[in-house]
Amino acid sequence: MPITFESGCFHLKTAHTSYVFELAGGKYPVHLYWGPSVRAVHDTMIRRLTRFTEETFSLHEQSLDSLPLECPVFGGSDLRPGMIHLIHSDGTHALDLVYESHEILPGKPDIPGMPSALGDGAETLIITLRDRLSNISADLLYTIWPDLDVLARRIRIRNDGGNTAFIEQAMSVSVDFEACDLDLLTLSGAWAREREPSRRPLYPGIQGVSTERGASSHQTSPFMVLLSHDTTESSGNAYGFALCYSGSFSASVNVDQFGMARASMGINPFNFRWKLTPGTVFDTPDAYLVFSDHGLGEMSRRYHTFIHRCITRGTFALASRPLLINNWEATYFDFNEEKLLSLARCAKEVGIDLFVLDDGWFGKRNTDHCSLGDWVDDLGKLPHGLRHLSDSIHELGLKFGLWVEPEMISPDSDLYRAHPDWCIHVEGRERLESRFQLVLDLTRKEVRDYIVTVITDALIRGNVDYVKWDMNRNISMWGAALPPDQQQEMGHRYILGLYDIMTRITGRFPHVLFESCAGGGGRFDLGILCLMPQTWCSDDTDAWMRCRIESSTSLLFPPSAMGAHVSAVPNHQTGRLTPLATRAAVAMCGTFGYELDLQKLPPEELESIREINKRVHEWQRILFYGDFYRLKNPYESNEAAWMSVRSDRREAIVTHVYAQAFPQQKPRLLRLAGLDPDLDYTDTETGKVYGGDELMQRGYPLSVAWNDYMAQQIHLIAI
Ligand code: GLA
Repeated sequence: MPITFESGCFHLKTAHTSYVFELAGGKYPVHLYWGPSVRAVHDTMIRRLTRFTEETFSLHEQSLDSLPLECPVFGGSDLRPGMIHLIHSDGTHALDLVYESHEILPGKPDIPGMPSALGDGAETLIITLRDRLSNISADLLYTIWPDLDVLARRIRIRNDGGNTAFIEQAMSVSVDFEACDLDLLTLSGAWAREREPSRRPLYPGIQGVSTERGASSHQTSPFMVLLSHDTTESSGNAYGFALCYSGSFSASVNVDQFGMARASMGINPFNFRWKLTPGTVFDTPDAYLVFSDHGLGEMSRRYHTFIHRCITRGTFALASRPLLINNWEATYFDFNEEKLLSLARCAKEVGIDLFVLDDGWFGKRNTDHCSLGDWVDDLGKLPHGLRHLSDSIHELGLKFGLWVEPEMISPDSDLYRAHPDWCIHVEGRERLESRFQLVLDLTRKEVRDYIVTVITDALIRGNVDYVKWDMNRNISMWGAALPPDQQQEMGHRYILGLYDIMTRITGRFPHVLFESCAGGGGRFDLGILCLMPQTWCSDDTDAWMRCRIESSTSLLFPPSAMGAHVSAVPNHQTGRLTPLATRAAVAMCGTFGYELDLQKLPPEELESIREINKRVHEWQRILFYGDFYRLKNPYESNEAAWMSVRSDRREAIVTHVYAQAFPQQKPRLLRLAGLDPDLDYTDTETGKVYGGDELMQRGYPLSVAWNDYMAQQIHLIAI
């Protein structure tokens, strides 16, 4: 049994890990252990504290304040930052959630209205706690996938009492670590510079990352890792926390007076309050926890396998994906049918599979100043309509994809003229535009129904095979069509509305490949990934910046989830010049495509692109679904390197990039990982043979960098 309850202890066992907590005094779940598998934990926390204080430990004193709790709440005797904070109908904040019952179920219950991991092979423990006076209960849900070494946590708060309460805070997870001798790793950044890692030792007090923007954001990610100080890519302890949510979140660690570290993650309690009327229930999103005692690399590989098996789903999960060309950086808004078709013809000639028409095909959208919301064909640019273009593209033997930005409305649009109240706004206040657009109020059912209808029509009209779902601004001037005492539900209700329209639209088109995007990687999270199997990683397509962005994104996400394209040089975001082979090698760490005008390239580059495309088709399964190893960290050096190894370890693809070239460099060795030490491998480029042990211990002899931004890709096959 993966989940057991013996002698007052719950033990959640996966193949390599144990997560153990006891029921202290039969009342409070108290954390005992999370780490490599153990058979049992005999020394309970209560016993230890009794010895420590040399007197009988009483749960009725201020005692919860020193215990590692599984569900700390505000308003009781634990005075540290908690997981749940409620205000009762009489305005009081006290809360005492006490164990009532538990059950163990096969699989994993769905979360109403929210995406979450599939429960195949999983087992779930539900512990019900109850506050006697208010009759409000909290279910703590723990799901484990024993073979994947993943633990999901979330809570469900139910008002079984007769009075309305307000939830001020409901985190998905809280874990108390006995000691704070750990580092915290989080990701933060900006548009075109997403997910830069930052690692620092824990210090007393609160630390972490959060966002109030209404989206998981460019600025940070709903993901954090606690690590031992000496943890590396391949050794040491790493405790990963990843939230399955796309809105404002908080991920923090509080180091308390006893040096214990409390890690918690969930919907950001700032600007959040949920009205819990009698008989209603509130569900938090899932948080997925992964422990590794072989460093960050093993943690990432566990997350990648979990994402492939339980997060991405439908036609494209575990499938190969089409090589695409997107016209955005090739034409921006300046295109017509002929221009698009001539780009598509050229794409077909070099072996591309899918042509994607980006922004500018609808309304009167010749700039970003207008037309969002008017999802009607621009007959000025496409005189025969979208279907005619799509048919012509299909006749060329290409698939056809389309860009949409369903959540937005331009003040200069027919939709806005008909429904000026459909956007997020506060009557009497200025409607602050960003990129000349406003955000539709997805808390309103009529707005959601409108979006589903017009986007469905466009996808049918365009007979599309692929959709790029964009979102180009965050919410400001917060005000939704909700009663005053529910305005602070807006952020979460917006995300529930988003999940509703995404579920309805993706469900209607199961054979269409959906890629999400938010001005690049401004909403790259597990919530969206449950609905759309790939996300545009960043608007920054510069090869060196992408080495950095893709490498840090891979901490959580596998290459199959990261949109990555080859673009023109000088690069449109950085002005940098990098060789075509390097841009291609780096884009192969994601769902591969192009974003440039192929017709402007010299014939020899088009010939190279033909060869590159053949290689991507050949290698894609290993690049996407192989075991991923980061070898050189581009944030710390002049080099980036990673490799993907087929699960039977008989084939591997290594990518290495030098940033700046230095004169008089001697040939270097790159130590590989994940190979079978007992096998010999042929380098398919040179025909040379190396031992797996040799490649991992001594290293692969790299070419000398004779140019800036030189990449080398090595394909190894076991003999
Ligand atoms: C966003 C996307 C880009 C492109 C433009 C179009 O910035 O990230 O890839 O689609 O919108 O307006």
